[in-house]
Amino acid sequence: MDIEIVDFLIIGSGVAGLRAAIELAPYGNVLVATKDMPRESSTEYAQGGIAVALSDEDKVVIHFDDTLKAGDGLCREEAVKILVEEGPERILELISWGAEFDKEGTKLDFTIEAAHSRRRILHAHGDSTGKELERVLINKVRSFPSVKKYPFAFTVDLIVKDGECHGAYVLKDRKMSAVIARSTILCTGGVGQIFARTTNPMVATGDGMAIAFRAGAVLEDMEFVQFHPTSLYSPYAPQFLLSEAMRGEGAALKNINKEHFMRNYHSDAELAPRDVVSRAIISEMVRTESNHVYLDMTHLGKDFVKKRFPKIYSTCLQYNIDITENLIPVSPAAHYMMGGVKTDLNCATSIKELYASGEVACTGVHGANRLASNSLLEGLVYGARAGRAARESVVSLKELQLKAQYATQYSPAYHSIPEHDEIRMTLRKLMWERVGIIRCGGSLEDARKKLAEWSFILDKAFYTRRELELKNMLTVAMIITETAYLRKGSVGAHFRSDYKEKGKDWQKHVACSREDDRISCG
Ligand code: SIN
Repeated sequence: MDIEIVDFLIIGSGVAGLRAAIELAPYGNVLVATKDMPRESSTEYAQGGIAVALSDEDKVVIHFDDTLKAGDGLCREEAVKILVEEGPERILELISWGAEFDKEGTKLDFTIEAAHSRRRILHAHGDSTGKELERVLINKVRSFPSVKKYPFAFTVDLIVKDGECHGAYVLKDRKMSAVIARSTILCTGGVGQIFARTTNPMVATGDGMAIAFRAGAVLEDMEFVQFHPTSLYSPYAPQFLLSEAMRGEGAALKNINKEHFMRNYHSDAELAPRDVVSRAIISEMVRTESNHVYLDMTHLGKDFVKKRFPKIYSTCLQYNIDITENLIPVSPAAHYMMGGVKTDLNCATSIKELYASGEVACTGVHGANRLASNSLLEGLVYGARAGRAARESVVSLKELQLKAQYATQYSPAYHSIPEHDEIRMTLRKLMWERVGIIRCGGSLEDARKKLAEWSFILDKAFYTRRELELKNMLTVAMIITETAYLRKGSVGAHFRSDYKEKGKDWQKHVACSREDDRISCG
């Protein structure tokens, strides 16, 4: 097996991974491993924007309060404080590196989304904010010769010995190699692909959470999955996100009878919290026996819509929907994972020299429900913090060489599952139908039973990306189902039709880890 020794290994190249790399670059050589092209991440596709208390009408403390309110009592306050206080500095730094956020005249233009009490969301090129962040961060990374990108390299497992992470086994060009590092940072993003309907790109298969779990790390808050109310619904089109900023600018939700309905569900109507809007849409779909509702922007003015949402306009037009003239068929879809690998405020996990940042991590900033557009900010703030923490590693070169010797002992027997694509499809459908927006004891029991039938996959080693992803998807699906089953109450994005109240001990976080090859939660 090939061995590569680096100072720092970063797995994932979205906003958190790139920001961590920038922080680490002056302190040693950095390898950024990604299983696809470096730009292929959830960051690249983020539309709405990035929340930050920088407008004249806003204050850090108001952003703090809105974040806590959205998190429904489960945010970790110290983590939120760091997010909102360090956020403005990270954004100004990004602007100094060349980020071009949209302006109204000479001033930054802020939009509004659900559960924000102020206009505080910066956006770029209308609705391509994530793309602009990736552009700027990738350019900045390029200015450091110490950072090497390693595309199409699938991280199979972490190398952990005596509670310390020594790097990872990485599969590239059908060859396995061991990347040995002083510190490793997981920045692999979310899990959306485990649900049949998702706004997430194909790469979001929960890899970081699964490999950390297998290595013995603690995961937390895994029952909290956010569903976005409006993703394009058409048999002829991909499940494309229709940004909440559209509702922020005045787009209305209508059922298939073209009736407004959100006022019947919440006084904030279209700008009610995402979980409320998603459930309202499901209720209307059931009531009207339809598989979608509509988003209506036709009253907002053609020029405004085309200028403000150019990407959404052109994408929908490809599928014969002119959003300035037609109602847009939409339905909810899995969007964001609030839980993840549990970290402290410096992104350290329960395994020494292993850090996590961005969607893969659970710093506690999002609690039970993420405030819209806080995730890119989290990636910037906590990506930088992860980098700063990782560079303090005291592991010496001699120790790294010893670790490398141990790592070569890895030689599992590889398997293949011919029906892996069928299992993937069934798993995604199962998670959407039984562990989706509305859950109950019965649906979760069904899911637990079905998922258990595939548990033979969990202890096998594979050599292809699709099979490795399936193993990770199954791991994460099982953990989500288990924690959703354990939480007998409805909090934030986790809604149980059999326990509609928050219930007893609702403020307790559910943590999971691997014990004797089982998922142990409590
Ligand atoms: C959106 O544009 O609606 C997504 C923003 C977010 O999820 O933070």
